[in-house]
Amino acid sequence: MGVDEVRGMPDAVTFIGRYWQQRPLLIRSAFADFDCPLSVDEVGGLALDADIESRLILGSTDAGWSLQHGPFDEATLSSLPPQDWTLLVQDVDKHLPELAGVLDRFAFLPDWRVDDLMISIAGDGGSVGAHRDRYDVFLLQAEGRRRWLIDRDPLADLQDDASGPLRLLRGFAPSDDMLLHPGDMLYLPAGLPHHGIADGLCQTWSIGFRGPKLDELLAELFQILVVQCPDSVLTDRLGGPARHRAELDPDSLASLREALRQALQTTPELLDQAIARALSTPKPGLPDPADQPVPDLPEVLPADAVLLRNPVCRILLLPGQDDGFYLNGSLQPLPPGCLPLLRQLASSSQVRVSELALARYGKEGEALLFGLLREEHWWLLDD
Ligand code: SIN
Ligand code: CO
Repeated sequence: MGVDEVRGMPDAVTFIGRYWQQRPLLIRSAFADFDCPLSVDEVGGLALDADIESRLILGSTDAGWSLQHGPFDEATLSSLPPQDWTLLVQDVDKHLPELAGVLDRFAFLPDWRVDDLMISIAGDGGSVGAHRDRYDVFLLQAEGRRRWLIDRDPLADLQDDASGPLRLLRGFAPSDDMLLHPGDMLYLPAGLPHHGIADGLCQTWSIGFRGPKLDELLAELFQILVVQCPDSVLTDRLGGPARHRAELDPDSLASLREALRQALQTTPELLDQAIARALSTPKPGLPDPADQPVPDLPEVLPADAVLLRNPVCRILLLPGQDDGFYLNGSLQPLPPGCLPLLRQLASSSQVRVSELALARYGKEGEALLFGLLREEHWWLLDD
């Protein structure tokens, strides 16, 4: 039996129950209305920008590989060979906020799992080799065709081949071979070996969902513990004169261990705080809204204006908490009664002012919304 194949996105309950983090799924014509908004040349243009992370991979399994990091100049991109090249651009959702709407189609997965929209363009035969990724990914064929080879064998014990510039898999033996056409999408759970090969010039969108990293959660918890730790010098009772001036005596060691153990005590509230801070921290290296000039805002928001969420901004709501929310790594107060307003704002990449029925939330709602606009977590688009 091959990879499960469906036409159109399955319902969210089926997808989460049967496929998410478990098995691949090929979704033919995933979104009936998907119309690729970027040309291959426009994607190439993004790779000229020094603020946008990009990579150019040349080569093939037989010929070997070369990897270059962007930004690139026009001469490099216009002299690419006809075959065997791939140009990859990261975080396109953050750099082109109008494309962040593609993530709305995945709203059955929480925002804290979202990593980015990466877009690749490739000449015929272009590939990044056989590899695994540490995140779950939806590979949406945006333009042209791409062949995907995957290995569904959960016992496949493949090793990374460290000899070249890419993190490739040695001995990749595909169990499935699929040709994706524009609008088709392949879901791959994290860690599943795969190899995509362009069949003619093509454009592929990778919508990546990364799980939280334990070291990031721990780092956040430590910061909280350090800040709340009293600024005190520990006292000791030496058991006797030093046996050797360079030695830490067993009694002092035991009492310092105990002091550390005490300082590491946590409560569920502290753990939740650390988790929420870590999960709402924006990806590093992206444009910081705080660097932008404060926008001019009208006194009254026009009912037909659109509020566009700044895709770098990360909002997180903790269960049961209605007096605060996490925004870009820190806890913000939520005025009484304003939770539904925040939930509605955060439920899609853009919302029309009239849909918010702001009058319901009074002065508090207005203050919340204007605060978010002034700090550029949302933008006001007049149309
Ligand atoms: C590509 O778009 O060429 C590669 C994406 C991937 O395999 O993760
Ligand atoms: Co991959």
